Amino acid sequence: MSNKEDQLSDELERDISAKEKNGRVSTTKLRTDERVLARITDGIYRQPASALRELIANAYDADATEVYIQTDAPRFDSITVRDNGRGLSRKALAHVIHHIGGSPKRTIKGAELDVVDENDPYLSKSGRRLIGKIGIGLFSVAQLTAHFQIISKVKGEHFRRVVDVVLTTHREDELAKKNSKQDFETGSVNIWSVPAKDFDAQGTEIILLELRQQAKDILSSRERWQAMQPDALDDEDNPANLLPPLYHVGELDFQDNDVIEKKANLPWSSDDLPKDRFAKLVQAVKDGEGNRASNPELDKVLDNYLNMVWTLSLSAPLDYIEGHPFEARASDGIPVFELSNQSRGQATEVNLTGRQTVASRLKLISMKRGVASKFDVYIDGIQLFRPLSIKNIPETAHAIKTPLLFVGKCEPNLDRIPEEFRGGSLAFEAYFLWAPKIIPKEHNGIVIRINDASGTLFDETFLKYQVSEQTRLRQITAEIFVTSGLDAALNIDRESFNYSHPHYQFLTKWVHGALRQLTNVHKRIAKELRVARLESESSTLSQKIVQAVTEEWQKAKSDPSDHPPEVMFSDEPKTKRKNADLIVFSKNEIFSVRKPRARQTGTAAADELAFEEKIKALTQVLTAYGVFEKMTHKKQQQLLRAIVRIFSVEAD
Ligand SMILES: Nc1ncnc2c1ncn2[C@@H]1O[C@H](COP(=O)(O)OP(=O)(O)OP(=O)(O)O)[C@@H](O)[C@H]1O
Ligand SMILES: [Mg+2]
Repeated sequence: MSNKEDQLSDELERDISAKEKNGRVSTTKLRTDERVLARITDGIYRQPASALRELIANAYDADATEVYIQTDAPRFDSITVRDNGRGLSRKALAHVIHHIGGSPKRTIKGAELDVVDENDPYLSKSGRRLIGKIGIGLFSVAQLTAHFQIISKVKGEHFRRVVDVVLTTHREDELAKKNSKQDFETGSVNIWSVPAKDFDAQGTEIILLELRQQAKDILSSRERWQAMQPDALDDEDNPANLLPPLYHVGELDFQDNDVIEKKANLPWSSDDLPKDRFAKLVQAVKDGEGNRASNPELDKVLDNYLNMVWTLSLSAPLDYIEGHPFEARASDGIPVFELSNQSRGQATEVNLTGRQTVASRLKLISMKRGVASKFDVYIDGIQLFRPLSIKNIPETAHAIKTPLLFVGKCEPNLDRIPEEFRGGSLAFEAYFLWAPKIIPKEHNGIVIRINDASGTLFDETFLKYQVSEQTRLRQITAEIFVTSGLDAALNIDRESFNYSHPHYQFLTKWVHGALRQLTNVHKRIAKELRVARLESESSTLSQKIVQAVTEEWQKAKSDPSDHPPEVMFSDEPKTKRKNADLIVFSKNEIFSVRKPRARQTGTAAADELAFEEKIKALTQVLTAYGVFEKMTHKKQQQLLRAIVRIFSVEAD
């Protein structure tokens, strides 16, 4: 950053300081010196969830242990985000105002401003790996409102600082006229201090005022409710999904926003604890659309607001609703496989012993969060958790009944890439969970978390995996936890990647290698199960046939202790004999009328065997009733052949 900006922030800092005692207002302008940054304050983020995600990330970086988001749903006139982090000191605040796009995080400036660990600027003061790096996240609120306030308190100070920001919207044509040497005024700022008695308190509150109509419309699912109006329903071109969301925060009367048209329908009740509310939300999504569909989609079950809650729960650095997947133990009953980092390597099964977890066994570290491990986020009384779990996965008709967990870690040696392109070192841990069905559908894919936060959500292409594993790919949820690197490949909105970055390219290869390993194990297990199932099925089937034919034999003979002779279809010379207890026919002679199967699958072979068993039984029944008595062996064989032929007629 230029000296001019440093000078400006120094001046501002002195001004704030001079006015601290009497509460007078310091007035300044938000300035950026690059066109692209002027656009940032206009909003590069599109979804309301993105702005809240950035504010939560800032609270995390400030070592908060609690964040409370409060909205006035379903109206959405204003939103407040309050944390108990370290707050913005005078110095840090002055820096923020004059250095949009110049984050102090991960730089020596950070130590100077006392917002990072003094020995490692990549860590927060309590040792969390910092999410922030650019210095624009705060301005993601621009898409929600042009007017917001920051009220911040630093521990050990006798006042709160209030910052009132009004952003200016730039029009494309105005931007075009400016030359790049000029400053861009992106807003006006008033700062003042108010006395505070709670000397030891700390934290920051961000109040988004007068939300933009567009943001309100999104948050209140306006388009969706309007599509449900009777006149809209009559409109044949109405493209909207015609079912109301199962759960919602209520519908406003769009003529008069003070009137609530439909009362909220939420999956919890008002006396449920914040944690239980979230658990009930997760259960509601699992249960899905009831009889509407068996594969729930978030969009159908939840309105936009609840969808936003869900998105935040996936993107923030939170605990998991039922424990981290790396905390799986043998008692969870899920087979665990360790992924290989070799180019043709295969996953190997890991047998966890006793109280061993996947993390302790494979020495995983990505879940560690420094000293301040607690980070609780609440939105309107719901406590957020990551809604991902390896437990209680519903069974389906799929042959493999338990989920399979594939875990790996990698710290590649990138020495072969020239240093200037390498982008530093890369290190990550990952799991791939195969389950017969992924619920909700939106969890199918891979999430990449850098320093425990993700803006990209699930990539269902698995970084553009090209192999045609369609069904199997739809049965995988995966998460990658990056502990070093990849940051530079993340685009500034944190919602997409620069695919050409060497770290992303390495990761792509690794992920595809992991999918290949998963596929191989999965195919092997499925095959083993299929063989076992066929064996047990055919043995129970033949038992049943034997029982049926014995009963029929005894009935025909009126002798409950008599047993039918054995029948055999064979062309082996030594079995060509016939006596009272064993009747042998030529297999070839009798069964050659059957069309051979096009595909020799395990199921086809089992079907063939079952058919033969039944013909055997039929032969025994014919014998019981004396049908064969006056026939030559040859005639008997012809009769059987005719029967087989009739039963083998097929439609095609
Ligand atoms: N809740 C908060 N508590 C304390 N300081 C905060 C808080 N929010 C923002 N800040 C300060 O304001 C600065 C600007 O925040 P902003 O989100 O714009 O940038 P960043 O977090 O540094 O980087 P990024 O753009 O990658 O998020 C931060 O560097 C931090 O010093
Ligand atoms: Mg930030």
